[in-house]
Amino acid sequence: MSILITGGAGFIGSHTAVELINCSEKIVIVDNLTNSNMQTIDNIKRITGAEFPFYEYDCCCKKDMTKIFKQNDIESVIHFAGLKAVGESVEQPLKYYENNLQSTLLLCEVMEENDCNRLVFSSSATVYGSPKTVPIKENFPLSATNPYGSTKLMIERILSDICISNPRFSVAALRYFNPIGAHKSAIIGELPNGIPNNLMPYITQVAAGKLKCLNVFGNDYDTHDGTGVRDYIHVVDLAKGHIKALDYAKNHSGYETFNLGTGTGYSVLDIVHAFEKTNKVKIPYKIVDRRPGDIAICYADITKSKKILSWQAELGLEDMCKSSWEFTKKAFNN
Ligand code: NAD
Ligand code: UFG
Repeated sequence: MSILITGGAGFIGSHTAVELINCSEKIVIVDNLTNSNMQTIDNIKRITGAEFPFYEYDCCCKKDMTKIFKQNDIESVIHFAGLKAVGESVEQPLKYYENNLQSTLLLCEVMEENDCNRLVFSSSATVYGSPKTVPIKENFPLSATNPYGSTKLMIERILSDICISNPRFSVAALRYFNPIGAHKSAIIGELPNGIPNNLMPYITQVAAGKLKCLNVFGNDYDTHDGTGVRDYIHVVDLAKGHIKALDYAKNHSGYETFNLGTGTGYSVLDIVHAFEKTNKVKIPYKIVDRRPGDIAICYADITKSKKILSWQAELGLEDMCKSSWEFTKKAFNN
């Protein structure tokens, strides 16, 4: 019996693949490599010493997805595959609706046809829109401020409807906060194409001399130093959360949502200073206007994940800053 990982060549999928193999699970990966590359698949094998089937297929192709289920005994699916750039989703909404919705609809169809009833889905804290208070609990009101966020909200709704229609179906929708960091081997991590949108990859590229200076988007928010506060979580802790969620899905049917964060908020300048202190490098920065669509503060209430999944993040900000930098240095030297 194998676990199918869609989007397993990506940032979070690759770390989850390693953790699953470390737990002696058999895995199969499908990824169309639209935002990743074959090297990551080889690196997962290098880290774990394991062999596993990899399919360079698009999850939007039913024929190919069916082939994977026919060739492997798939007991559960972790569905990471999706496009995730917020700005791009505003410019090209159809691309996002088509890819993210179509891949999920087809996946669920093929799962039902092959009597596979367990799914862990990559949702996002973006489904909380602009929360009125923090920390954010799973039962807070949901809304979307961009097409990417809308796809996550719509998929959550679809999955919840499937669970109502099929009492054997089990879905854990994991709402990630801000994943950063990299595996301790420094050979898998996050290296976006082009200029990074997210804070940590931008900082590491400034540290590497690829970019001159970090733009800090606003210092007039109602936070302890005026810059935006987020719940940064080490990607390895996040990966381990998926194993707990799979266990949960094995023992329960129905639809459930879980926050995966640390429960602690750090500001942009907290991150810059922690990165400088941990890695002994200077990060030049300047304050610029707020980025449209950003919120002031976002961090998780993790009571539910702690209680029901018996999961909690273990790695701190220093580990996140150190591993992000080690990975980026190595990636640029290769
Ligand atoms: P990523 O881009 O590194 O990984 C996604 C992978 O999916 C990529 O390897 C890409 O090639 C693949 N993919 C995309 N569309 C596909 C398709 N139609 N068929 C096959 N493969 C396809 O992103 P990530 O950071 O690892 O994110 C994984 C998931 O978590 C995504 O669904 C994302 O929306 C969600 N998420 C990410 C964050 C974050 O900050 N990284 C936060 C919240 C939620
Ligand atoms: N920031 C900067 N400069 C930058 C990049 C970011 O100051 O160059 C600031 C932002 O204004 C924000 C914080 O750093 O205050 C974090 O920004 P990110 O872009 O790294 O992350 P977001 O919280 O905006 O969004 C991320 C993902 C979303 C996901 C969300 C919640 O990009 O897809 O986390 O999980 F939905």
